[in-house]
Amino acid sequence: MSDEKVAGPRHVAIIMDGNGRWAKARHRPRLFGHREGAESLRVILEACRKHGVEILTVYAFSTENWGRPKDEVDGLMRLLKEFLKKDEKELHKHETRLRVTGRLGDLPADVQAELRRVMAATEKYTKGQLVLALSYGGRAELADAARRIAEDVAAGRLAPEAVDEQAIAERLYLPDVPDPDLMIRTSGEVRLSNFLLWEVSYSEFIFTPVPWPEFREEAFVACLEEYSRRSRRYGGHE
Ligand code: IPE
Ligand code: IPE
Ligand code: MG
Repeated sequence: MSDEKVAGPRHVAIIMDGNGRWAKARHRPRLFGHREGAESLRVILEACRKHGVEILTVYAFSTENWGRPKDEVDGLMRLLKEFLKKDEKELHKHETRLRVTGRLGDLPADVQAELRRVMAATEKYTKGQLVLALSYGGRAELADAARRIAEDVAAGRLAPEAVDEQAIAERLYLPDVPDPDLMIRTSGEVRLSNFLLWEVSYSEFIFTPVPWPEFREEAFVACLEEYSRRSRRYGGHE
């Protein structure tokens, strides 16, 4: 072992899962779990600033989540607005830019307006980024990129021979955001559920049994430590 200090992850992506089961175990409605989950997001964002993680991307609502009961979807949208209202000051305090990945136009108009307002208000910050994945699907993102490539080819802006990995990467939702170094999923499920399919090609994965509403700084730091013990080889050798 060398004594070289291992760099922490620059970009952490989290599948914030387990709110419903956590609430159910407490005989409370699912929304109670989502509310406590929003508190975890606050705590983890703060922990990112403290532990040198520049970019935090969180899976907040998938393209498939539209299929949940209307009450739950409405409740989640309400919570999102509350989060934006309450936490805008945290973003300013930490000079963190808010961004959205996903089909923003699918969201209710009032939620979109609030998101656009906070995104514009924090646009200039360069210390950190909080990326909310909303109405996000990895396949939708790739389909949207494919459509843009087809449009560029049809318009004569792009030659078919020029369609390579970079051409795809440039047409993803946030092309300037580097791929996640670390991907965490809480609550014991071991699957991607359509999150960042392209971007996690070489990410390190951690699946923790801790449900999202209980995932706080200590659990996060344990993940950062686990990451620092990993050896990323990218197909090469050690
Ligand atoms: C994650 O918690 C939050 C969202 C998907 C919006 P869940 O609501 O999926 O909670 P479980 O997985 O049913 O426990
Ligand atoms: C993934 O969790 C989506 C979010 C965390 C927003 P789900 O709970 O929707 O995924 P499945 O249904 O367990 O695959
Ligand atoms: Mg779930």
